[in-house]
Amino acid sequence: MNIDRILSELTLEEKASLCSGDDFWHTKPVERLDIGRIMVSDGPHGLRKNVDLADNPNQAIEAVCFPTACASACSFDRSLLEELGKAIGSECRSEKLAVILGPGCNIKRSPLCGRNFEYFSEDPYLAGQLAAAHIKGVQSKGVGACIKHFAANNQETRRFSADARISERALREIYLAPFETVIKEASPWTVMCSYNRINGVHSSQNKWLLTNVLRNEWGFEGLVMSDWGAVDERVEGVKAGLDLEMPSSHGKNDKYIVEAVEKGELSMEELDSCARRVLELIDRALESGSGDTEWDKKRDHDLARKLASECIVLLRNEGGVLPLKTDKSVAFIGKFAAEPRYQGGGSSHINSKYIDSALKASEEYAKVTYAQGYVTDADRTDEALLAEAVAAARSADTVVIFAGLPDSFESEGYDRSHMKLPSCQLRLIDEIAAVNKNTVVVLHNGSPVEMPFRDKVKGILEAYLCGDGSGGAVCDVLFGKVNPSGKLAETFPVKLSDNPSFLNFPGEGDTVNYAEDIFVGYRYYDKKDIEPLYPFGYGLSYTTFEYSDLRLSHSELDDSKTLIVDVTVKNTGKCFGKEVVQLYVSDRESSVSRPVKELKGFEKVALAPGESKKVVFRLDARAFAYYETSIEDWFIEYGAYDILVGASSRDIRLKDTVYVNTGKRLPVHFDLNSNFGDIRQFPEGREILDELFRNTSATGGFDEDDENMRRVNEAMTNELPLRAIVSFSDDPSFTRENMQKLVDRINELLADN
Ligand code: BGC
Repeated sequence: MNIDRILSELTLEEKASLCSGDDFWHTKPVERLDIGRIMVSDGPHGLRKNVDLADNPNQAIEAVCFPTACASACSFDRSLLEELGKAIGSECRSEKLAVILGPGCNIKRSPLCGRNFEYFSEDPYLAGQLAAAHIKGVQSKGVGACIKHFAANNQETRRFSADARISERALREIYLAPFETVIKEASPWTVMCSYNRINGVHSSQNKWLLTNVLRNEWGFEGLVMSDWGAVDERVEGVKAGLDLEMPSSHGKNDKYIVEAVEKGELSMEELDSCARRVLELIDRALESGSGDTEWDKKRDHDLARKLASECIVLLRNEGGVLPLKTDKSVAFIGKFAAEPRYQGGGSSHINSKYIDSALKASEEYAKVTYAQGYVTDADRTDEALLAEAVAAARSADTVVIFAGLPDSFESEGYDRSHMKLPSCQLRLIDEIAAVNKNTVVVLHNGSPVEMPFRDKVKGILEAYLCGDGSGGAVCDVLFGKVNPSGKLAETFPVKLSDNPSFLNFPGEGDTVNYAEDIFVGYRYYDKKDIEPLYPFGYGLSYTTFEYSDLRLSHSELDDSKTLIVDVTVKNTGKCFGKEVVQLYVSDRESSVSRPVKELKGFEKVALAPGESKKVVFRLDARAFAYYETSIEDWFIEYGAYDILVGASSRDIRLKDTVYVNTGKRLPVHFDLNSNFGDIRQFPEGREILDELFRNTSATGGFDEDDENMRRVNEAMTNELPLRAIVSFSDDPSFTRENMQKLVDRINELLADN
């Protein structure tokens, strides 16, 4: 496609028309110039391609549901996400889809967000790495991905109008960071802006976000589309860099664009930039639209099961109740054993062709008895079902209860109001645990739940919403064919009120204050020393691992160097297993408030019994940096950083220290309102002020030899502004003007160094 030529031939109306959808899923064609239209589709963990059938308009085709992001994140496995992405990419090709709408990499700020199941993590490094791997997989098939929802879409309540009030530091370090990784490492074809506002401005018309940060700073060259219905002021959107409005606004917003150009309120160059990027996407998508790939749904379903088994997290296994022994009798209890909850509600909902139930899949392993136990249409106990379940539990050696959140409890479009399981399920678990001491709970939920039953049961398996292969995958883990290797990609607090966003979620009216700032997820629980129910990065295995020989390539580092960290991990148990080795960086002393530690590396390693492997991490300068608002950049303070390696955020096995020096200092400028203490931190300032001290009576009159008095005096003067010394001094030559000269000298000295 010769885009320059086409642009020169397009009329103003045609250009404007390219900047919005033709219908719900297509871009607009320009037949006169032979420009076809392309189709996009949800996303993200399988295809929700909608077609108009004669008897059913807007019907989703039969497809495969892979593990949703809340589950796939627990794999901590980039290659798994890439494999998942590749499968979806091929499916798109066979369905002539140009772009798949996903993945979403928003941060899980609160466990209540109805859409958490579609997001990866509370940690920006993990979310960014996994989303990037997913996108690389999709795009390796010549199909575009669409990273969403850019940015700060962390709740469903008032999602179209909520104003996320966030400090720039928290935006950079937490909420934008996964997107930054994705843009820089995976070059997605497209970005979808979010519905909400950020610090007062809708994302769909936020120039700072869509142009300054996304394009100018991060180098994004693809297309930005709106979330469905996210456009507020279309002309402002064009100016801000929103290329494509989706879905169609029936020509209404195109008209505003035309008028704005005619009135000189919008330049042709601004419109051309958007139209050009739409054309570039259409051009790029021509190949993927060829439908040249076969889609074997059974094969992809089998893959979905295999991937799901790598994501399930074993949270509790007292007395080795798992894996289940096939020579003992087993009862499966709970409706989700027969009808698993394997996906969430909303735009990602897939019309699955094959669905594994655990009950059916158990036939591959053993004969199990079954009782439904509870209903899911309402939170009410069906006494007959309960009695039947308790009876079944009494006569089995081991009971596996399949519990979790029914569809109506969580979905895109609204948030939860609490973190509890339905009370009918909690009662079922209690009554069964009372009659059978070998009780295991399997959970299907898209976001953390409280577990008041934790200490009453022997086993807990967190299966999340694990796709349409989840029933088979759960059995593979329960019966020990697959050794669980998932780790939690989010903290499970004991109770909702422990969560850092508790006081400010979902906000008041449209205003949502992100008052917890950078202390999201484990960053908060660590800092406040709050014991979670299960910490970030936690997950058990049927085997055990030993960590040894932590080695750092440097003990001192400047920012041009990469720190290479290696560690040996050994499988010390009796069966094959995989371990997620996690690396956290901890700034030991910092002049700004920082998390106790932050995840900066993870690797999943597969080990036969007795086998050892060396795991290698590479840390670049960014691993040590925080976002310093005063210089609008990332900054590394000189000092000691601990490198912590372990099996979870609360199970650090090895530790070493590196000294990092970038040779840079933050620019400082003092004035008469600056405190003694701040100036004294610098040797140049300390020397001058100490000299001043000796020559004035304003600050003391105490006995220099009295060490206690000296310290008290220093602490008190550290809090004094320089101007106060002028007023307190009875020396007439000690004037504001003289003090100003002194400050100027200090500023000069500091600028020189
Ligand atoms: C969702 C998007 C989705 C789009 C199209 C919106 O409501 O927020 O994630 O891709 O609908 O279905």
